[in-house]
Amino acid sequence: MVERWTGGLHAGTVVKGLYLKWTLGPMFLSTSGRALDAGCGEGANFARLLARRLPGWRFVAIDLAHGGAPPSEPNVSRCVGDLRALPVVGPFDVVYNIDVLEHVDDPPRLLAAFAACLRPHGILYLHVPASEQRHFLPGVDREYSWLGPPSLGDVHLFEGFDPVQLASWLQEAGFAVVSTRRTFGTVVSVLKELFMLAEARRVPGVGLALLPFLALAARLEWWWGGRRGNGVCIVARRMASAGRPRSRQVSTVGARG
Ligand SMILES: C[S@@+](CC[C@H](N)C(=O)[O-])C[C@H]1O[C@@H](n2cnc3c(N)ncnc32)[C@H](O)[C@@H]1O
Repeated sequence: MVERWTGGLHAGTVVKGLYLKWTLGPMFLSTSGRALDAGCGEGANFARLLARRLPGWRFVAIDLAHGGAPPSEPNVSRCVGDLRALPVVGPFDVVYNIDVLEHVDDPPRLLAAFAACLRPHGILYLHVPASEQRHFLPGVDREYSWLGPPSLGDVHLFEGFDPVQLASWLQEAGFAVVSTRRTFGTVVSVLKELFMLAEARRVPGVGLALLPFLALAARLEWWWGGRRGNGVCIVARRMASAGRPRSRQVSTVGARG
Protein backbone atom coordinates (compact mmCIF):
# COMPACT_ATOMS: atom_id res chain seq x y z
CA MET A 1 0.00 0.00 0.00
CA VAL A 2 2.70 2.51 0.89
CA GLU A 3 4.93 1.54 -2.01
CA ARG A 4 2.43 2.12 -4.76
CA TRP A 5 -0.51 4.41 -5.23
CA THR A 6 -3.58 3.28 -3.35
CA GLY A 7 -4.95 0.27 -5.17
CA GLY A 8 -1.51 -0.52 -6.61
CA LEU A 9 -1.75 2.02 -9.43
CA HIS A 10 1.24 3.49 -11.18
CA ALA A 11 1.63 7.30 -11.08
CA GLY A 12 1.02 7.57 -14.82
CA THR A 13 -2.21 5.57 -14.50
CA VAL A 14 -3.50 7.88 -11.76
CA VAL A 15 -2.83 10.96 -13.89
CA LYS A 16 -4.36 9.37 -17.00
CA GLY A 17 -7.43 8.48 -14.94
CA LEU A 18 -7.78 12.12 -13.91
CA TYR A 19 -7.44 13.32 -17.52
CA LEU A 20 -10.11 10.83 -18.56
CA LYS A 21 -12.46 11.94 -15.80
CA TRP A 22 -11.99 15.63 -16.50
CA THR A 23 -12.48 15.17 -20.23
CA LEU A 24 -15.41 12.77 -20.28
CA GLY A 25 -17.15 14.26 -17.23
CA PRO A 26 -19.77 16.12 -19.30
CA MET A 27 -20.40 12.99 -21.37
CA PHE A 28 -21.06 10.94 -18.26
CA LEU A 29 -23.70 13.36 -17.02
CA SER A 30 -26.20 11.24 -18.91
CA THR A 31 -27.56 8.61 -16.58
CA SER A 32 -26.88 5.59 -18.75
CA GLY A 33 -24.77 4.49 -21.69
CA ARG A 34 -22.22 1.97 -22.98
CA ALA A 35 -18.49 2.56 -23.01
CA LEU A 36 -15.64 0.54 -24.50
CA ASP A 37 -12.25 0.55 -22.76
CA ALA A 38 -10.16 -0.49 -25.78
CA GLY A 39 -6.83 -1.86 -24.54
CA CYS A 40 -7.77 -1.64 -20.87
CA GLY A 41 -4.56 -3.15 -19.46
CA GLU A 42 -4.30 -5.63 -16.66
CA GLY A 43 -6.90 -4.86 -14.02
CA ALA A 44 -9.10 -2.75 -16.33
CA ASN A 45 -8.48 0.10 -13.90
CA PHE A 46 -10.21 2.91 -15.78
CA ALA A 47 -13.34 0.88 -16.50
CA ARG A 48 -13.58 -0.17 -12.87
CA LEU A 49 -13.02 3.32 -11.48
CA LEU A 50 -15.66 4.81 -13.77
CA ALA A 51 -18.10 1.93 -13.27
CA ARG A 52 -18.17 2.51 -9.51
CA ARG A 53 -19.20 6.13 -10.00
CA LEU A 54 -21.57 5.50 -12.92
CA PRO A 55 -23.82 2.56 -12.05
CA GLY A 56 -26.14 3.31 -14.98
CA TRP A 57 -23.31 2.84 -17.48
CA ARG A 58 -22.01 -0.48 -18.79
CA PHE A 59 -18.31 -0.87 -19.52
CA VAL A 60 -16.73 -3.42 -21.82
CA ALA A 61 -12.99 -3.72 -21.13
CA ILE A 62 -10.97 -5.47 -23.80
CA ASP A 63 -7.30 -6.46 -23.95
CA LEU A 64 -5.08 -9.19 -25.39
CA ALA A 65 -5.00 -10.91 -22.01
CA HIS A 66 -6.40 -10.41 -18.53
CA GLY A 67 -4.74 -11.46 -15.32
CA GLY A 68 -6.18 -11.72 -11.84
CA ALA A 69 -9.73 -11.96 -10.59
CA PRO A 70 -12.60 -10.64 -12.70
CA PRO A 71 -13.84 -7.15 -11.74
CA SER A 72 -16.26 -7.08 -8.84
CA GLU A 73 -18.25 -4.24 -10.41
CA PRO A 74 -21.41 -5.72 -11.99
CA ASN A 75 -21.40 -3.17 -14.82
CA VAL A 76 -17.92 -4.13 -16.13
CA SER A 77 -17.44 -7.01 -18.58
CA ARG A 78 -13.93 -8.10 -19.42
CA CYS A 79 -13.24 -9.43 -22.87
CA VAL A 80 -10.06 -11.02 -24.20
CA GLY A 81 -9.37 -10.21 -27.82
CA ASP A 82 -7.37 -8.34 -30.40
CA LEU A 83 -8.55 -4.82 -31.15
CA ARG A 84 -7.48 -5.25 -34.76
CA ALA A 85 -10.42 -7.62 -35.19
CA LEU A 86 -12.63 -5.81 -32.72
CA PRO A 87 -14.57 -8.68 -31.13
CA VAL A 88 -17.34 -6.58 -29.61
CA VAL A 89 -20.71 -5.46 -30.82
CA GLY A 90 -21.64 -1.80 -30.70
CA PRO A 91 -23.03 0.68 -30.71
CA PHE A 92 -21.10 2.37 -27.91
CA ASP A 93 -21.66 5.91 -26.69
CA VAL A 94 -18.00 6.32 -25.75
CA VAL A 95 -14.81 4.53 -26.74
CA TYR A 96 -11.61 5.34 -24.91
CA ASN A 97 -8.21 4.14 -26.00
CA ILE A 98 -5.40 5.08 -23.67
CA ASP A 99 -1.77 4.54 -24.61
CA VAL A 100 -2.57 1.69 -26.97
CA LEU A 101 -2.37 3.16 -30.47
CA GLU A 102 1.45 3.04 -30.42
CA HIS A 103 1.22 -0.76 -30.03
CA VAL A 104 -0.84 -1.51 -33.14
CA ASP A 105 0.53 -1.80 -36.65
CA ASP A 106 -2.20 0.12 -38.48
CA PRO A 107 -3.57 2.98 -36.34
CA PRO A 108 -5.80 4.48 -39.07
CA ARG A 109 -7.53 1.13 -39.49
CA LEU A 110 -8.11 0.86 -35.73
CA LEU A 111 -9.58 4.38 -35.67
CA ALA A 112 -11.95 3.39 -38.46
CA ALA A 113 -12.96 0.29 -36.46
CA PHE A 114 -13.74 2.56 -33.48
CA ALA A 115 -15.91 4.71 -35.75
CA ALA A 116 -17.75 1.58 -36.85
CA CYS A 117 -18.63 0.54 -33.30
CA LEU A 118 -19.64 4.01 -32.05
CA ARG A 119 -23.12 5.37 -32.44
CA PRO A 120 -23.42 8.45 -34.65
CA HIS A 121 -22.11 11.44 -32.64
CA GLY A 122 -20.53 9.06 -30.12
CA ILE A 123 -17.25 10.14 -28.52
CA LEU A 124 -13.76 8.74 -29.00
CA TYR A 125 -11.16 9.64 -26.36
CA LEU A 126 -7.57 8.95 -27.40
CA HIS A 127 -4.45 9.31 -25.30
CA VAL A 128 -1.10 8.64 -26.95
CA PRO A 129 2.57 9.47 -26.38
CA ALA A 130 3.69 12.59 -28.23
CA SER A 131 6.33 12.25 -30.92
CA GLU A 132 8.82 14.33 -28.94
CA GLN A 133 9.52 12.99 -25.43
CA ARG A 134 11.38 14.88 -22.71
CA HIS A 135 13.02 13.20 -19.74
CA PHE A 136 14.07 15.34 -16.80
CA LEU A 137 15.76 13.20 -14.17
CA PRO A 138 18.94 11.32 -15.05
CA GLY A 139 18.54 7.61 -15.62
CA VAL A 140 14.74 7.59 -15.53
CA ASP A 141 14.41 6.14 -19.03
CA ARG A 142 16.11 2.99 -17.74
CA GLU A 143 13.90 2.69 -14.68
CA TYR A 144 11.04 0.54 -15.90
CA SER A 145 12.61 -2.48 -14.23
CA TRP A 146 10.18 -2.47 -11.30
CA LEU A 147 7.28 -2.96 -13.68
CA GLY A 148 8.63 -6.40 -14.58
CA PRO A 149 9.17 -7.90 -18.02
CA PRO A 150 7.02 -6.50 -20.87
CA SER A 151 3.98 -8.59 -21.73
CA LEU A 152 2.26 -9.34 -25.03
CA GLY A 153 1.18 -6.08 -26.69
CA ASP A 154 3.75 -3.92 -24.86
CA VAL A 155 6.08 -3.44 -27.84
CA HIS A 156 6.00 0.08 -29.29
CA LEU A 157 5.46 0.02 -33.04
CA PHE A 158 5.30 3.83 -33.01
CA GLU A 159 7.42 6.03 -30.79
CA GLY A 160 4.76 8.72 -30.55
CA PHE A 161 2.34 10.70 -32.65
CA ASP A 162 2.01 14.15 -34.09
CA PRO A 163 -1.43 15.67 -33.28
CA VAL A 164 -1.78 16.95 -36.86
CA GLN A 165 -1.22 13.45 -38.23
CA LEU A 166 -3.69 12.03 -35.72
CA ALA A 167 -6.31 14.61 -36.64
CA SER A 168 -5.95 13.72 -40.30
CA TRP A 169 -6.35 9.98 -39.59
CA LEU A 170 -9.39 10.74 -37.44
CA GLN A 171 -11.02 12.80 -40.15
CA GLU A 172 -10.41 10.04 -42.68
CA ALA A 173 -12.01 7.57 -40.28
CA GLY A 174 -15.15 9.68 -40.03
CA PHE A 175 -14.51 11.73 -36.90
CA ALA A 176 -14.66 15.46 -36.22
CA VAL A 177 -11.94 16.49 -33.77
CA VAL A 178 -13.46 18.24 -30.75
CA SER A 179 -10.34 19.06 -28.75
CA THR A 180 -6.61 18.38 -28.63
CA ARG A 181 -4.46 18.83 -25.54
CA ARG A 182 -0.93 18.15 -24.48
CA THR A 183 -0.62 16.08 -21.31
CA PHE A 184 2.24 15.18 -18.98
CA GLY A 185 3.79 18.65 -19.04
CA THR A 186 7.00 19.48 -17.21
CA VAL A 187 5.86 19.41 -13.58
CA VAL A 188 3.69 16.31 -13.93
CA SER A 189 6.48 14.51 -15.79
CA VAL A 190 9.09 15.41 -13.17
CA LEU A 191 6.82 14.12 -10.37
CA LYS A 192 6.09 10.95 -12.33
CA GLU A 193 9.82 10.38 -12.86
CA LEU A 194 10.46 10.91 -9.15
CA PHE A 195 7.86 8.27 -8.45
CA MET A 196 9.47 5.86 -10.93
CA LEU A 197 12.97 6.34 -9.53
CA ALA A 198 11.70 5.81 -5.99
CA GLU A 199 9.80 2.69 -7.03
CA ALA A 200 12.84 1.29 -8.80
CA ARG A 201 14.92 1.88 -5.66
CA ARG A 202 12.14 0.50 -3.44
CA VAL A 203 11.81 3.66 -1.35
CA PRO A 204 8.65 3.13 0.71
CA GLY A 205 5.81 5.62 0.91
CA VAL A 206 6.76 7.77 -2.08
CA GLY A 207 3.58 7.03 -3.99
CA LEU A 208 1.33 8.31 -1.23
CA ALA A 209 3.58 11.27 -0.48
CA LEU A 210 3.60 12.42 -4.10
CA LEU A 211 -0.07 11.78 -4.84
CA PRO A 212 -1.49 15.20 -3.75
CA PHE A 213 1.28 17.11 -5.53
CA LEU A 214 0.84 15.08 -8.69
CA ALA A 215 -2.94 15.56 -8.70
CA LEU A 216 -2.55 19.31 -8.10
CA ALA A 217 0.11 19.67 -10.80
CA ALA A 218 -2.04 17.71 -13.27
CA ARG A 219 -5.03 19.97 -12.51
CA LEU A 220 -3.02 23.17 -12.90
CA GLU A 221 -1.46 21.99 -16.16
CA TRP A 222 -4.91 20.98 -17.37
CA TRP A 223 -6.26 24.49 -16.72
CA TRP A 224 -3.15 26.12 -18.09
CA GLY A 225 -3.30 24.09 -21.33
CA GLY A 226 0.43 24.10 -22.10
CA ARG A 227 1.82 23.55 -25.59
CA ARG A 228 4.40 20.97 -24.59
CA GLY A 229 3.99 17.62 -22.94
CA ASN A 230 4.90 13.98 -23.36
CA GLY A 231 1.31 12.97 -24.12
CA VAL A 232 -1.47 13.98 -26.49
CA CYS A 233 -5.14 13.71 -25.63
CA ILE A 234 -7.67 14.02 -28.44
CA VAL A 235 -11.44 13.94 -28.22
CA ALA A 236 -13.32 13.29 -31.44
CA ARG A 237 -16.98 12.92 -32.31
CA ARG A 238 -18.13 10.29 -34.77
CA MET A 239 -19.83 11.92 -37.70
CA ALA A 240 -23.14 10.47 -38.85
CA SER A 241 -21.55 9.27 -42.10
CA ALA A 242 -18.42 7.51 -40.80
CA GLY A 243 -16.79 5.10 -43.27
CA ARG A 244 -15.85 1.44 -42.97
CA PRO A 245 -12.46 0.16 -41.71
CA ARG A 246 -9.84 -0.09 -44.47
CA SER A 247 -6.21 -1.08 -44.62
CA ARG A 248 -3.43 1.48 -45.13
CA GLN A 249 0.30 1.42 -45.39
CA VAL A 250 1.91 3.24 -42.44
CA SER A 251 5.55 3.26 -41.49
CA THR A 252 6.50 1.86 -38.11
CA VAL A 253 9.57 1.91 -35.91
CA GLY A 254 10.55 -1.15 -33.95
CA ALA A 255 11.23 -0.48 -30.27
CA ARG A 256 10.43 -2.07 -26.96
CA GLY A 257 7.80 -0.45 -24.80
C1 LIG B 1 0.57 0.76 -22.23
S1 LIG B 1 -0.71 -0.39 -21.92
C2 LIG B 1 -2.06 0.71 -21.55
C3 LIG B 1 -3.10 0.06 -20.70
C4 LIG B 1 -4.18 1.01 -20.20
N1 LIG B 1 -4.99 1.51 -21.30
C5 LIG B 1 -3.54 2.13 -19.41
O1 LIG B 1 -3.41 3.24 -19.96
O2 LIG B 1 -3.19 1.91 -18.26
C6 LIG B 1 -1.12 -0.94 -23.56
C7 LIG B 1 -2.17 -2.02 -23.56
O3 LIG B 1 -2.63 -2.22 -24.88
C8 LIG B 1 -2.87 -3.60 -25.05
N2 LIG B 1 -2.84 -3.92 -26.47
C9 LIG B 1 -1.83 -3.69 -27.34
N3 LIG B 1 -2.16 -4.13 -28.57
C10 LIG B 1 -3.42 -4.64 -28.47
C11 LIG B 1 -4.32 -5.26 -29.38
N4 LIG B 1 -4.00 -5.42 -30.65
N5 LIG B 1 -5.53 -5.66 -28.93
C12 LIG B 1 -5.86 -5.49 -27.63
N6 LIG B 1 -5.07 -4.90 -26.71
C13 LIG B 1 -3.86 -4.49 -27.13
C14 LIG B 1 -1.72 -4.25 -24.28
O4 LIG B 1 -2.00 -5.59 -23.97
C15 LIG B 1 -1.64 -3.35 -23.05
O5 LIG B 1 -2.46 -3.80 -22.00
